[in-house]
Amino acid sequence: NKHNVLAKVMDMDWPQLRQTIMACHLCGLCAKRKQAVPGVGDEQADWLFIGEGPGAEEDARGEPFVGQAGRLLDAMLAAIDLARGKNVYIANAVKCRPPGNRTPELSEMAACRPYLQRQIELLQPKLIVLLGKAAVAAVLGEEGSLASMRGRSLIYRQGELEIPTLVTYHPAYLLRNLPDKAKAWEDLCRARALMQCIVNM
Ligand code: URA
Repeated sequence: NKHNVLAKVMDMDWPQLRQTIMACHLCGLCAKRKQAVPGVGDEQADWLFIGEGPGAEEDARGEPFVGQAGRLLDAMLAAIDLARGKNVYIANAVKCRPPGNRTPELSEMAACRPYLQRQIELLQPKLIVLLGKAAVAAVLGEEGSLASMRGRSLIYRQGELEIPTLVTYHPAYLLRNLPDKAKAWEDLCRARALMQCIVNM
């Protein structure tokens, strides 16, 4: 049951967590995936970026954000002087591709949540950037419109951990709504400034 899974996952180190995610059957998404996509990056990173779920290319390659949205994410990282794997970890709300890239269901995000929680706990990032509505729902349990939440820094709490988050648009959304890129870049600048304050505390 859910509580047993959570308890076990919360004792795992990175390799165990990865193995468990790769073999996971906790929700229906496992039926159609090629492989699970646990996450990628620096396991000591100050920055954690969380997206929605793997798409076709991620499902094929086993790495998050390697398709078109991923290229935009790389540009977003570069805009604030970051790069994949260098002080950055990238994960998704769900680790398996929803068929046809549909939005993950709340039940799927809930089933997958222990993995994300453990990733956050192992990483203890200084700031979590939430990319889009699904990440906000998975991490903060908030379901308002993204427009009402973007740029806001809400605190993620888990046990003793209190980690600031910053909400911005998902890169795949930005590819379809290019004028909103300016707003996303504003959010990124705010995230960069926030990190500066946090590391200087
Ligand atoms: N979109 C996401 O949310 N995550 C990925 O890994 C790729 C595309």
